[in-house]
Amino acid sequence: MKLLVTGGAGYIGSVVGAQLLAAGHQVVVLDDLSTGHADAVPDGAELVRGTLRETAFEVLDGAGFDAVLHFAAKSLVGESVRRPGLYWDKNLGESLALLDAMRRADVHRIVFSSTAAVYGEPETTPILETDPTRPTNPYGASKLAIDTTLTEYAALHGLGAVSLRYFNVAGAHGRYGERHTVETHLIPNVLAVALGRGESVQMFGGDYPTPDGTCVRDYIHVVDLGRAHLLALDACAPGEHQIFNLGNGDGFSVREVVEVCRTVTDHPIPAVEAPPRPGDPAVLVASSDKIRSALGWKPERDLPAMVADAWAFLRR
Ligand code: UFG
Repeated sequence: MKLLVTGGAGYIGSVVGAQLLAAGHQVVVLDDLSTGHADAVPDGAELVRGTLRETAFEVLDGAGFDAVLHFAAKSLVGESVRRPGLYWDKNLGESLALLDAMRRADVHRIVFSSTAAVYGEPETTPILETDPTRPTNPYGASKLAIDTTLTEYAALHGLGAVSLRYFNVAGAHGRYGERHTVETHLIPNVLAVALGRGESVQMFGGDYPTPDGTCVRDYIHVVDLGRAHLLALDACAPGEHQIFNLGNGDGFSVREVVEVCRTVTDHPIPAVEAPPRPGDPAVLVASSDKIRSALGWKPERDLPAMVADAWAFLRR
C-alpha cells in the first residue's frame, strides 16, 4: 500500500513507519518537525515538511495513497492545561484539515492515534472501550473530539477509520526511540539518571490508593503497539469507525518501574518522593480484550524488555 504517515519524524510515528516499510509498504512522512527530528524519519521513507493544514491536500491529491496513519499531535498533558487553544488548534483543527484533504483526494482509510487520556479518571479497572469518556485535560478532550469526528465521518461520508487508544508507550526499535526535548515520561526520566543526567528520580505522589502508594500504569512496548497498526490498517472498513484500547493489561507502579530500571541498568538509581503531579489518575490499566478478539493482536514484550530496549536506544 502507499501510506501517508503524519508525525513520522516523532517517536511512535518513526517506529511504526519503519515497521510499515519492513512489511513492504511505501511510506511518505508528513511532519512539520516542530517536535520530531528529520533524522528519525525511517530509512526508505520520503519526508515532506509541512503542517497538515497547509500541506496535506497537496501531498495526497492525485498521488494514489491507499490510507493515512495519523500520529501528528501535541501530546503533553501539562502543556495542554496551560495552553488549551494550542491543543484544539493543532490536534482537532489540523485533524479536520487532514480529513477534509483526504475526502477531496479520495483517500478513505485512516488509523488514528487516540489515547487513554480520553477516559479521564476511570470508575473501574481494567478500562473498556465502552466506559465513560470524561477527559480531565485539553489533551484528552482534543483527542476525544477527533474520535467523535471520525465516528461522524464514517457514518456520513463512508470513511473507514480505526482509533487506537494508547496506554503508556515505552521501549524502542533499534535506532528509533523516544527523544523529546522536554521529557516528562517516567521510563526515559529514570534511565536518564542511570546515564548520569540528574542525581535522582522524582516519584510523583506516594499516597495514592494503590498497593505501594504510587501511580499504576499499563506499559506497552512500542513495537507491539506498531504491530497493532498494521492489523488496524487491514481492518479499516468503509462506513465503520472501530475503537480499540491498546495496552498490555498489566499494571506497574512507579516504584516497580524504577526497580525494573535498576535491574536492567545495574545502577542504583536514587529515587525520592515528590508531591503528586496534578491530574494524574491513580490507576490506568487497559482491557485489551476487544483488539485481541477482533484483530488477533496480543502483546509479546514485557516491561523488562521495554526498559532494556529504551536503555539500549539511550546509550546509542
Ligand atoms: N512519573 C514520576 N516521575 C517522573 C515522570 C513520571 O513519578 O519523572 C509518574 C507520573 O506521575 C505517573 C507515571 O509516572 O504516575 C507515568 O507518567 P508518564 O508521564 O510516563 O505517563 P502518563 O501516564 O502521565 O501519560 C501517558 C501519556 C499521555 C497519556 C496518558 C494516558 O504520556 O500522553 O498516558 O494515560 F495521556
